[in-house]
Amino acid sequence: MLVIDIEHGVTHVLVTGGAGYIGSHASMRLLKESYCVTIVDNLSRENLGVVNILQELFPEPGRLQFIYADHGDSKAVNKFFAENAFDGVMHFAAVAYVGESTAEPLRYYHKIASNTLVLLEAMASQSYVHWFPCNTIQKL
Ligand SMILES: NC(=O)c1ccc[n+]([C@@H]2O[C@H](COP(=O)([O-])OP(=O)(O)OC[C@H]3O[C@@H](n4cnc5c(N)ncnc54)[C@H](O)[C@@H]3O)[C@@H](O)[C@H]2O)c1
Repeated sequence: MLVIDIEHGVTHVLVTGGAGYIGSHASMRLLKESYCVTIVDNLSRENLGVVNILQELFPEPGRLQFIYADHGDSKAVNKFFAENAFDGVMHFAAVAYVGESTAEPLRYYHKIASNTLVLLEAMASQSYVHWFPCNTIQKL
């Protein structure tokens, strides 16, 4: 069961990294349960195919929007927050390979920690959104 509650007004969910493994499954589940989903992904894993499949499965206008952007790009992030009214954010965008993370730990810290701050700052400028980082769930 999804923990975000459509009956309490959470209907449009931003899914970062929604073209990735976990994010695409989360997006599929949200769409199946009638949420509107906006996926933001920089396609760093060259994985547009999964977005195309989701768009074929849920072609109704307004159900699934894809934004090609990097969530560390504050200009892009502020733009898509200004143009959309998200009720919740599920954050899966990340670099997530063990080998790479041990070879390039600073790049990983930057991509995961610093970039997430950009997202949080944009969210803080909104009146209210729910925040669902991967694996843990908490409310701002
Ligand atoms: N795969 C697992 O079994 C698993 C288990 C537990 C937790 N996680 C965590 O879930 C998260 C996602 O893992 P995954 O396996 O789906 O990885 P993934 O590589 O399949 O997906 C990550 C997605 O994020 C996108 N992305 C990366 N940096 C981005 C950025 N700066 N801006 C926008 N998009 C960006 C990538 O293009 C990709 O589509 C990671 O934090 C990972 O540690 C994964």
